[in-house]
Amino acid sequence: MRLVIGSDHGGFALKESIKKHLAERNIEVEDYGTFSEESVDYPDYALKVSLAVAKGEFDGGILCCGTGIGVSIAANKVKGIRAAHVTDCFSARYAKEHNNANVICLGGRVTGPGLADMIVDEWLDAEFQGGRHLKRVEKIAEIEREYLHGEEC
Ligand code: RB5
Repeated sequence: MRLVIGSDHGGFALKESIKKHLAERNIEVEDYGTFSEESVDYPDYALKVSLAVAKGEFDGGILCCGTGIGVSIAANKVKGIRAAHVTDCFSARYAKEHNNANVICLGGRVTGPGLADMIVDEWLDAEFQGGRHLKRVEKIAEIEREYLHGEEC
């Protein structure tokens, strides 16, 4: 499995801590920045990570900002991205099982590093259940085709 991770300054510390956890699990992760706590704009990092996931270059993406909200709003503007802003393990699991979320978004000023690791694990270890959930995810893709204009990745 290959993941891509990114953050703004508000999510930088959490990104670094999640990277350590993924390394302990021997999961390969590419870091698209930011690389310090200097102020940057979260949409730039959300876009880089989301485009790479939408193009199929990675199996999933992790985004962090201060709250997790900004990166999730930006990521969900990219066709094919189902980004879930998650603050608990239950939602993390169902984000994959029901929504097939291919990007997970966390807030470095909201979620502590221990809980963040558990959230990432729940999401990574869960499997999309398909069936009635596939029909619903396909309806999201239909909405994208009709209302979200831009290039298919
Ligand atoms: C940056 O100060 C902050 O606005 C950003 O990290 C994020 O929380 C936005 O949603």
